[in-house]
Amino acid sequence: MSEKLKLEKSEKMYQEALELIPGAILGIRRPYNFVPGEYPIFFDSARGGKVIDADGNEYIDMLCAYGPIIIGHREEEIDNAVIDQMRDKGFCMSLTQPIQNKLAEKLIKLIPSAEQCVFVKTGSDATTTSIRIARAFTNKLKVIRCGYHGWHDWCVEVKGGIPEKLYEDTLEFHYNDLEGLENLMKQHGDDVAAIIVTPVGHPLAHEVEMPKPGFLEGVKELAAKHGSVLIFDEIRSGFRVNMGGAQKEFGVTPDLSVFGKAMANGYPIGAVVGKKEIMQVLAEKVFLSSTFFPNSLEQVAALKTIEILERDNILEVIKEKGYKFAAKVEKIIEETDMPVRFSGAPWMPFITFIQDEAKLYKKLRPAFYTELIRRKVFLQPFHHGYIAYRHSDKDLEYAADMIKESLLEIKKMM
Ligand SMILES: Cc1ncc(COP(=O)(O)O)c(C=O)c1O
Repeated sequence: MSEKLKLEKSEKMYQEALELIPGAILGIRRPYNFVPGEYPIFFDSARGGKVIDADGNEYIDMLCAYGPIIIGHREEEIDNAVIDQMRDKGFCMSLTQPIQNKLAEKLIKLIPSAEQCVFVKTGSDATTTSIRIARAFTNKLKVIRCGYHGWHDWCVEVKGGIPEKLYEDTLEFHYNDLEGLENLMKQHGDDVAAIIVTPVGHPLAHEVEMPKPGFLEGVKELAAKHGSVLIFDEIRSGFRVNMGGAQKEFGVTPDLSVFGKAMANGYPIGAVVGKKEIMQVLAEKVFLSSTFFPNSLEQVAALKTIEILERDNILEVIKEKGYKFAAKVEKIIEETDMPVRFSGAPWMPFITFIQDEAKLYKKLRPAFYTELIRRKVFLQPFHHGYIAYRHSDKDLEYAADMIKESLLEIKKMM
């Protein structure tokens, strides 16, 4: 077994935070989502493809802040553009700044479904806005969803504090299960305002799935048949799978789509884009406003990020890195003959453990991720990772080698 990391400062801050913040940490960043006692709890700084925790341990950051870091941490070109805006113009005003139009023009040029756009701050803002638009446009109530769409009342999995009436009209189907969706539409089709689906399947703690042939096309056909709005939730796939979204990669254009995460390399912005005919409800009968939605720093960051992604052909580079990493890890899995699967290539690498009757996987998984974090590779046991542009070939080779060492170490438990 490798040596346990020194995490005293993280642990101390966690104890302090328990008094200050309910649960100490919010949501998916809580220790039980990793391996408690083995993973750091606070990060102090980050640069490029690396992060440093509160105790000074440095890791290859393969979680990338759960997706926003597409190029790398502290990208000077992006940060400098933001600093210039802050210093030269300001960013929080009673009226909207002109950069809004520039960013909208850019998205409309790049994304097949985008005829118009609106900008919000988070992915949850964007998914909820898209649902409100769909309900207003169709005058229907029900929503059929597939995937994680954020923390708002209509879709969050943990129902504490939410009256049932706020989510009773949301139904769920599984990714790649067209038949399941067909059955739901047979029962409820006439009342369905929207089908919202992530174009890549990434259910928590399960393998990442790419669309089966005909799946996305079939979802589109069902939505059209019943007069429902088709929404692609591209919060994870947008500006990662393709500059035009997974919709462009897979050749299926939805009515609306939502973006966030990688769009601004870590700055908080979300976007809803879609057909003008549908988006126009925002001009007529849907109210969308927030004190901070028009703040321009994130818009500057998004435009600069997109400029760099295009200029340096970054998504192609990430794809290449991702396939190379996948080939290496798949070979390792074969050689070590461990009951694990690798999915998500090339964009969202994930090592999952095959569920066995004796439930050995429940021991193997934390043991594996313990070995890996001790070797300074930061991946999440229940969530796929990401590849960033600043991960060097050396970083990814190191990560693959550590995956091998960790698998061989836990093999001793079998
Ligand atoms: C597919 C998807 N949709 C929506 C969201 C919500 O975005 P946010 O956390 O920015 O509110 C997420 C966040 O992980 C997501 O992965």
